[in-house]
Amino acid sequence: MSTRRHCLAAAAALACAIAAGGAVAQASKPPFKIGFILPMTGPFASTGKQIEAAVRLWMAQNGTVVAGRKVELLLRDDAGTADTTRRIAQEMVINDKVDVLAGFGLTPLALATAPIATQSKTPMVVTAAATSIITEQSPYIVRTSFTLPQVSVAIAEWAAKNKIRKVVTFVADYGPGLDAEKFFKSQFKLNGGEIVGEIRSPLRSPDFAPFLQRVADLKPDAVFAFLPSGQGTAFMKQFAERGLDKAGIRIIATGDVTDDDILNEMGDTAQGVVNSHHYSAAHPSPTNRKFVQAFEAANKFRPNFMAVAGYDGMRVIYKALEATKGQGGGDALLAAMKGQVFESPRGPVLIDAQTRDIVQDVYIRRVERVPAMGNQLFNVEFDVQKAVKDPAKLK
Ligand code: DHB
Repeated sequence: MSTRRHCLAAAAALACAIAAGGAVAQASKPPFKIGFILPMTGPFASTGKQIEAAVRLWMAQNGTVVAGRKVELLLRDDAGTADTTRRIAQEMVINDKVDVLAGFGLTPLALATAPIATQSKTPMVVTAAATSIITEQSPYIVRTSFTLPQVSVAIAEWAAKNKIRKVVTFVADYGPGLDAEKFFKSQFKLNGGEIVGEIRSPLRSPDFAPFLQRVADLKPDAVFAFLPSGQGTAFMKQFAERGLDKAGIRIIATGDVTDDDILNEMGDTAQGVVNSHHYSAAHPSPTNRKFVQAFEAANKFRPNFMAVAGYDGMRVIYKALEATKGQGGGDALLAAMKGQVFESPRGPVLIDAQTRDIVQDVYIRRVERVPAMGNQLFNVEFDVQKAVKDPAKLK
């Protein structure tokens, strides 16, 4: 081949390669990958079940192409074990090259993953775990669930104003339980209440009986309870079996205990339990009615607060991808997640730009049978604190 002919051929090949390359880049821009890590098996599987259902509902309603970019969902089960969460997160970042990590059903699982988010500059959207400090463990963490301090202060104020003088606190012995205990206690005491006992029960073996015997012996007006999602039924049953309700001891709680996922199984002991939380399936807004209806049609069970955080987590991710015009990128996505304001099924919410934590309304609710809703048990909202920021981050 002469030099001249070679050059022509080479130039054509180059031109072809550029043209083809352009076309290939358009057509095969890699999908935008969202890697959810959730407990799908083990004692906290209901959290995974609820969040997965909500994530799939979001995608069914909003499609799988955002700003021209195909969105792909990866979902893996960590069985609620932190070592597994960390290993899966590493695999997702290194092998799957996920654009966002999401999920985290329990505090230790979120804490185990935070360093990976920081090192790889991957946004980490926490849709469940609720210990206050989580968002401070990485500048790449954004939370759409809640914090225990955020919801524990409201019930402490309500109790003190409603003739409850002596309380025993009863919490699961780990991050969120200690947060609930601390913030309930200080607000209740500030409002003139007295703490007559503090009980911490192990997270993983929910045999509450011996602890409930101590509550009975302490004879408080009420027990204030925090237990993670899924454990409320055992607590209510054992409370009644020990005769604590008959002894006139009331239950007040965070809404984790009167979890919508299992509330109907709890029966009469749950009736009248006043609690505070950010989401009730009975929240009377048009946005929530539509959400609940679509969720139940797709899943044959009621959404709980885990589901709504998963749904909103997807919203935050989709809007961030849209804001980057489909480009993504850890820092650009994070910037677009900060400051998002929107109407959630729970009510109005804001992702606070400074703390990357959620600001939301906290409701006081009473568990009641609702005749208009099949006579089932619901958390019926009767009071609200608007736009509550995590009080642990106010200083
Ligand atoms: C956490 C888990 C829960 O199931 C819950 O209801 C609240 C907090 C947690 O581990 O952070």
